[in-house]
Amino acid sequence: MALRDSFHSRIGFVLAAAGSAIGLGNIWGFPTNAANNGGGAFLFVYLIVTFLLALPALYAEIYIGNQAQKNPVSALGEACQDKMPKVGRFAGKIGLVGAMMMLSFYTIVAGWMLSHALSGISALAGMNEISAWLASDSTLRNIVFTPIFIILGALIIHQGVHKGIEKWSSRLMPILLVMLICLIGYILQQDGASEGLKQYLIPDFSRITEPKLVISAMGQAFFSLSIGVGGMMIYGSYMEKDKDLGKLVLSIGALDTLIAFLAGLLIIPALYVAKHAGQEVFAGGDLIGEGQLIFNILPTLFNSMGDIGLVVSSAFFALLSIAALTSTISSTEVPVSYLVEEKSLSRTKATWLVSAIVLVASMTLVAFFDVLFGLVIRGLTTILQPLSCLFYFIVVGWIWQRGNKLKDHAVLNQRPWLKYWGYYLQYVCPVLLLLVFYNVALA
Ligand code: PFF
Repeated sequence: MALRDSFHSRIGFVLAAAGSAIGLGNIWGFPTNAANNGGGAFLFVYLIVTFLLALPALYAEIYIGNQAQKNPVSALGEACQDKMPKVGRFAGKIGLVGAMMMLSFYTIVAGWMLSHALSGISALAGMNEISAWLASDSTLRNIVFTPIFIILGALIIHQGVHKGIEKWSSRLMPILLVMLICLIGYILQQDGASEGLKQYLIPDFSRITEPKLVISAMGQAFFSLSIGVGGMMIYGSYMEKDKDLGKLVLSIGALDTLIAFLAGLLIIPALYVAKHAGQEVFAGGDLIGEGQLIFNILPTLFNSMGDIGLVVSSAFFALLSIAALTSTISSTEVPVSYLVEEKSLSRTKATWLVSAIVLVASMTLVAFFDVLFGLVIRGLTTILQPLSCLFYFIVVGWIWQRGNKLKDHAVLNQRPWLKYWGYYLQYVCPVLLLLVFYNVALA
């Protein structure tokens, strides 16, 4: 078997996992979902679901990978070895499909980020026509930028320069944070922003039980924390065994939720500023244009800043492209690690093979955008990821015995609180998750 790569420190793991978690889901997905689901009510439910379900699922996923020190297909097979190894491996393979589904639409949106970053730069260079094309939404732009993004990701992964990208993201992510805060300061002074702020921060409690809202919040939380496709499992497997997972999971969750919250604080008020200025933003309570609207709103915001707006815009979208890259890497790592460890492919071959499949999938989405784009996102986030998480809870709580610390009497005698944590994962989490599905089925 190929020699396994690993993270050299806990902080290295937290940064890589936070790099995977923080991405387009936070800055594009979260505000879009919040805007489509009543703002404050969505935020409220999102925070509850993150705390009660998504963080425990993140723990379960990392825990399974960390104990197995193997790719997700083998790790789940091993955890299920006593009762149903084939089912475990099958679930791992479903995760691989999920990771590819994620990549198929994610690389399209990441391509939008890249083209917007270049749009600002070309405007600065006086190439106004090119800049306008780069900022406008077109199939041709998708056909050019999606492959560019896929190739960029593949170049990094095949070299295995995890450290490079980790260092990059740990340096650049703080800049993204500062930029978000400055932009929030700017937008909140504009006319119309206070209406958006109210919409975002004051929940309409009559909406919080709406099945569509609850399932969207759950899907968003799972997507944002990168759970349910094996991305966190493979990262967990690259960390030394038996670290204090609870604290690590909380740090990842806190960083990810902070960035999503701040993105909402920027974009929801920005939508209302645009609405106040006469731009059409909502149609029948939903945002116009399958989530692309924020790419029109943000440039309008940057334009209103004058010349400096071009620099801010380029920097902002460049940082988002990097955030997207670190997320893409962890997803790509799922099928790549499987091909390397189980099919004995070289890392380079595996990377290019996976990239080629993703390219075909994403180009299919581009070709049938109106039908497929939203469908694949909803299928992944509201069905596949939650079902995978349900499976992780069942594995950790019910199936996995040998090697499971949460079932080991000697360990539980030393750390009795672990027993209650085990009960929570075993009984409460599956019931909560099933309740959400039941509610949705009834609606
Ligand atoms: N968590 C990433 C985001 O919020 O953009 C998306 C993601 C990355 C999902 C990696 C799944 C994954 F395996």
